[in-house]
This record gives sequence, C-alpha cells and structure tokens, in this order.
Amino acid sequence: MITYAAILLALLQAPLVFAAQAPQFAPPGPGPLIASSHYVGQSNGSLSKSQVVGGKVFDRFTQIWIENTDFDVANTSATFQKLASQGVLLSSYYAVTHPSEPNYVASIGGDFFGMGDDELYNIPANISTVVDLLEAKNISWASYQENLPTDGYLGFNFTQPDYLNTSAPPYTYYVRKHNPHAIFDSIVNVASRRSKIRNFNDFAADMNASALPQWNFFTPNLVNDAHDTDIDFASAWLEFFLVPLLSDSRFNDNRTLILLTFDENETHEINNRIYSLLLGGAVPTNLHEANWGLGSLGRGDTNKTMSNVFSFVANVTGFKNQNVTGSSIPLTNASGTTPGPLNPQMFIPFTAPNVNATGAGGGSVFIAPGLNISMTADKLPGPVNLTALGEQVPASGYANGTGPSGSVPPAPTAGGSGTSGACQYTSSVFVSISAVVVALIISFSF
Ligand SMILES: *[C@@H]1O[C@H](CO)[C@@H](O)[C@H](O)[C@H]1NC(C)=O
Ligand SMILES: *[C@@H]1O[C@H](CO)[C@@H](O)[C@H](O)[C@H]1NC(C)=O
Ligand SMILES: *[C@@H]1O[C@H](CO)[C@@H](O)[C@H](O)[C@H]1NC(C)=O
Ligand SMILES: *[C@@H]1O[C@H](CO)[C@@H](O)[C@H](O)[C@H]1NC(C)=O
Ligand SMILES: *[C@@H]1O[C@H](CO)[C@@H](O)[C@H](O)[C@H]1NC(C)=O
Ligand SMILES: *[C@@H]1O[C@H](CO)[C@@H](O)[C@H](O)[C@H]1NC(C)=O
Ligand SMILES: *[C@@H]1O[C@H](CO)[C@@H](O)[C@H](O)[C@H]1NC(C)=O
Ligand SMILES: *[C@@H]1O[C@H](CO)[C@@H](O)[C@H](O)[C@H]1NC(C)=O
Ligand SMILES: *[C@@H]1O[C@H](CO)[C@@H](O)[C@H](O)[C@H]1NC(C)=O
Ligand SMILES: *[C@@H]1O[C@H](CO)[C@@H](O)[C@H](O)[C@H]1NC(C)=O
Ligand SMILES: *[C@@H]1O[C@H](CO)[C@@H](O)[C@H](O)[C@H]1NC(C)=O
Ligand SMILES: *[C@@H]1O[C@H](CO)[C@@H](O)[C@H](O)[C@H]1NC(C)=O
Repeated sequence: MITYAAILLALLQAPLVFAAQAPQFAPPGPGPLIASSHYVGQSNGSLSKSQVVGGKVFDRFTQIWIENTDFDVANTSATFQKLASQGVLLSSYYAVTHPSEPNYVASIGGDFFGMGDDELYNIPANISTVVDLLEAKNISWASYQENLPTDGYLGFNFTQPDYLNTSAPPYTYYVRKHNPHAIFDSIVNVASRRSKIRNFNDFAADMNASALPQWNFFTPNLVNDAHDTDIDFASAWLEFFLVPLLSDSRFNDNRTLILLTFDENETHEINNRIYSLLLGGAVPTNLHEANWGLGSLGRGDTNKTMSNVFSFVANVTGFKNQNVTGSSIPLTNASGTTPGPLNPQMFIPFTAPNVNATGAGGGSVFIAPGLNISMTADKLPGPVNLTALGEQVPASGYANGTGPSGSVPPAPTAGGSGTSGACQYTSSVFVSISAVVVALIISFSF
C-alpha cells in the first residue's frame, strides 16, 4: 500500500440507529448489466457514444460513494481488503464536514457553502460545478443514482415497493441528498444536463451500448450504500455490482481510474478520515499520458490545504502538492459552523469564486454567466442569523424539487442524448479565483 497525501472532503450523516437490525443483502436485479424490474425507473435508452478526450493519466474517472463508515470498520471487510490488494488505499483522505449532503455538494461544487444539514436546496445557476469544467473540454459525464424513478427526477426522495421484503411497506431507496447534480440549477436548468442524472437501468443500457461516459458518479441506494445497513451489506453489494465490472473493459480498462469512497466517517468527534480506494487499470504503475488540464472553480478546489491531488497524478502533471500532516490537517468534523449561503444561522449570499486562483489542472477559473465577480466575501456584511428572523435561506426548496418560487426546470429530453447538449454557458470568460473545500478536489485535479 502506498501512502498518498491526497486530501479529500466528503460527507455524511450519522448512521441510522436501526443499523443493528440490518436486513440481509439481496441483489436488486439479475446483474449490473441487466435491467431490473425492482427499479421503478426503466431505461430511457442509452447515451450516445462520445469521442474520448485523452487524459494525461487516465481517460475515465468513476467514483462510487458509500456511506457513514469509519476507516477501521471498512478495513474489517474481506471485500474491502481484497479490493485494497488490487489498488491503492488512500491513508490520508478526508471528508469535508458532516452530515452527508454538504460532502456530496462539495464533490462537484468545490464548496459546501456553509451547509450543515440534509435539507432540500437549489443552488443558483451562477454557481458552477465540475460539469462546467468537463463540458468546456468536451468530456462526457453522467451521474447514476440507483433507484432514481425517472431521469432528472428532482424530488426530495422516492419511495417504492420494498424488494428486500415484499411484505414490508414501501421503502425509501432514493434520496436527493446523495445526488449532488440534482442540487445545482446550473445543471438541472439545462435539459441536456438534467438528462444525464440517470438510474441504474440506464447504466445497464449505457454499458451495453459501450457508451459509459468519461466522468461518472455512482450513488447506490440507501441499503446498498450502507446508509441504512452496514459494511457487510455494502460489501455484498460491491461483490454483486463492482467486482464483475472490474473485469469488463467497457467499465474498466488500463485508462480507467475508480475511486471507491465514503461520504464521511461515522464517529463525528475527531477528524473525518474516510476509507478510500483507487482501483482500475490506470492505477498500477507508470502512467504517462496526456491529461485533461481542466480549469477550476476557484473554491475549495484551489485551496492548497484541501486540494492535494493523487501523487501519481501530480507526478505526471508536475503539480506540487502541499505536505499537510499532523495538526495542520484541518478538523473537518464540524457541522453547521461555517458561514455561507446554505447556513441559516450564519447566512452570507453566494459569493464569487476567487478568480485569481489556480487549481491543479492549470486552467483558469470558470465564470458562469450572470456571476458578479466583484461580489467577494470581504465586500459583504458579516453573517446574518436568518433563523432568528424566522426566515429560510433563499436556496431552500420544496420536496418536489422546485425552488421557493415554485419554478420548474425544463424536463430532460427523452433518450438522454449523449454529448451534444446545448450548454447554456457561452464561451465564458476565464479568470482565476480562490477556494474552499475538498471532496471534489480529486475530480478537478487532473
Ligand atoms: C487493515 O486490516 C488488516 C487486517 O487486519 C491490517 O493488516 C491492516 O494493517 C489494516 N490496514 C489499515 C490501513 O489499517
Ligand atoms: C424519459 O425521458 C422523458 C423525457 O424527458 C421523461 O419524461 C421520462 O420521465 C423519462 N423516463 C424515465 C424512465 O426516466
Ligand atoms: C492498454 O490497453 C490497450 C487496449 O487493450 C492495449 O493496446 C495497450 O497495450 C494497453 N497498455 C498497457 C500499458 O497495458
Ligand atoms: C474518523 O476520522 C478521523 C480522522 O481521520 C480519525 O481520526 C478517526 O479515528 C475516525 N473515526 C474512527 C472511529 O475511525
Ligand atoms: C483553506 O482550507 C482550510 C482548511 O479547511 C481553511 O482553514 C482555510 O481558511 C481555507 N483557506 C481559504 C482561503 O479559504
Ligand atoms: C512521485 O515522485 C516522487 C519523487 O520522484 C517519488 O518519490 C514518488 O514515489 C512518486 N509517487 C508515485 C505514486 O509515483
Ligand atoms: C511531511 O511533513 C512531515 C512532518 O513534518 C514529515 O515527517 C514528512 O517527511 C513530510 N513528507 C514529505 C513528503 O515531505
Ligand atoms: C484578483 O486580482 C485583481 C488584479 O490584481 C484584483 O484587483 C482583485 O482584487 C483580485 N481578486 C481577488 C478575489 O483576490
Ligand atoms: C448568485 O445568484 C444568487 C441568486 O440569484 C444571488 O443572490 C447572488 O448574489 C449571486 N452571486 C454572485 C456572486 O453573482
Ligand atoms: C440563531 O438564532 C437562533 C434562534 O434565535 C438561535 O437559537 C441560534 O443560537 C442562533 N445562532 C447563532 C449562530 O447565533
Ligand atoms: C421523504 O420526503 C418527505 C417529504 O416529501 C419527508 O417527509 C420524509 O421524511 C423523507 N423521507 C426520507 C427517508 O428522506
Ligand atoms: C412544489 O411544492 C410547492 C410547495 O408545496 C408548491 O407551491 C409548488 O406549486 C409545487 N410545484 C410543483 C411544480 O408541483
């Protein structure tokens, strides 16, 4: 095992109290590549195959997020130990906060914007994500949410027949708080982007069409990801789902990097180290090819303390990581103590990113249309306690996924067409900006 100084921030919430009576694993379907009738969401057809944009170290980056497990507990699983022997166990990879949702948001937005809960938010369209950076380079992407009922579904959760126990009441398998793309208006207000928020039946269709995108985010359902269950259940799911895919060249080849990680560890008192494995054909040794050279978001992804990149990537791209050790490792176990636009007790509006920052990809900071780049935190009044005023943060939404205005984003187009999505962003001004969190860093740092 190699010790990497990569720091990441992820997130989750305290494990549910009924984890002790966890059910036994049963496969959600006949196999990862076969449509399952246990999912309400049937496939809407596959994505179209897109041109591969070569990276310096890998051409495909796939992350799989499971939940709320302490590092040492994950390491008791025979499945995790086996997978670790095939890859790299990251010894210094941290989630950014608790509970879950802010960690997921940070994984694509570079910041958790002060969020300290799992509520329903709609982050405004002037806030960019890794999707902007990927699309600027024509890199295909998708988010696969196991039990999402329809592509681009924006509701707070979804309850369906319980496939583990058919005599039990309907069960909530899908939650929006684990679906980061659904939370950003810059994604869901663009139909072609929204259609890339897909379910696992779509995944089977995309795989069978050899059309798996280059950047993928996987969220298993609430039982398979250990949220409502435990590490043994999640391990059984990994044996069912991931293990066979590792030897399928449509999923994993020698240009594929897979990050299997947790959103947060379970014990909140200390730091938030999470058990994270790098797998895939690109992990082994000598990786010497072109890279994506992405721009940055000018948020946590450009904060030197939070945004180290995997050293084998840094070695190829020439990026200089910071040595963050001992007491300089930030305490990322706190919840709700960071001021921001999603913190009702310490509210400040969405500020501009640091346009003068440079991220690991070397590219400039992405500036969304409508972003007021002069609106930096230092120019704003201090945080306001909206709770004391009986108000919610403006980004709060309703369970149907709409914002406080009740506005409904356009539905995705049928067939979830591949890469030709009309991006609403015009060729943006690229500048550089500053930073915040960590979970996402990895995704940006190529
Ligand atoms: C994981 O567990 C194995 C077996 O108990 C042990 O040998 C190994 O040192 C552990 N790894 C870490 C990183 O704690
Ligand atoms: C398929 O796409 C259509 C059009 O966007 C959408 O209305 C429908 O809900 C989607 N169906 C599924 C199963 O995702
Ligand atoms: C990677 O896979 C391709 C396609 O199978 C093969 O041609 C190439 O030799 C492999 N490269 C390495 C370094 O294994
Ligand atoms: C949670 O993560 C912190 C930070 O690395 C670590 O010190 C702590 O031991 C973890 N908790 C447990 C119970 O593993
Ligand atoms: C960078 O991240 C660290 C650790 O979370 C934090 O203490 C620091 O304030 C951040 N720096 C900036 C400029 O935001
Ligand atoms: C990265 O380069 C350094 C310095 O040459 C070397 O010590 C280290 O082993 C390399 N790391 C990896 C993962 O290749
Ligand atoms: C990082 O800093 C620690 C503590 O100062 C030191 O022991 C370690 O050798 C340093 N690692 C690198 C790669 O510089
Ligand atoms: C970025 O640099 C410009 C020019 O030096 C400066 O005017 C501006 O204040 C800087 N912005 C930030 C957020 O540091
Ligand atoms: C981003 O949009 C929100 C909502 O419209 C607005 O409150 C905020 O001032 C904007 N921030 C920037 C930096 O443009
Ligand atoms: C905000 O106001 C609420 C309600 O008055 C209060 O309970 C809470 O402690 C306040 N929070 C802060 C950070 O001042
Ligand atoms: C699902 O959403 C409803 C609101 O629509 C909420 O009352 C319920 O607590 C949520 N359940 C879960 C498990 O998130
Ligand atoms: C969503 O829910 C809100 C609050 O209940 C309601 O005002 C709004 O009309 C709903 N929007 C849709 C599209 O159902």
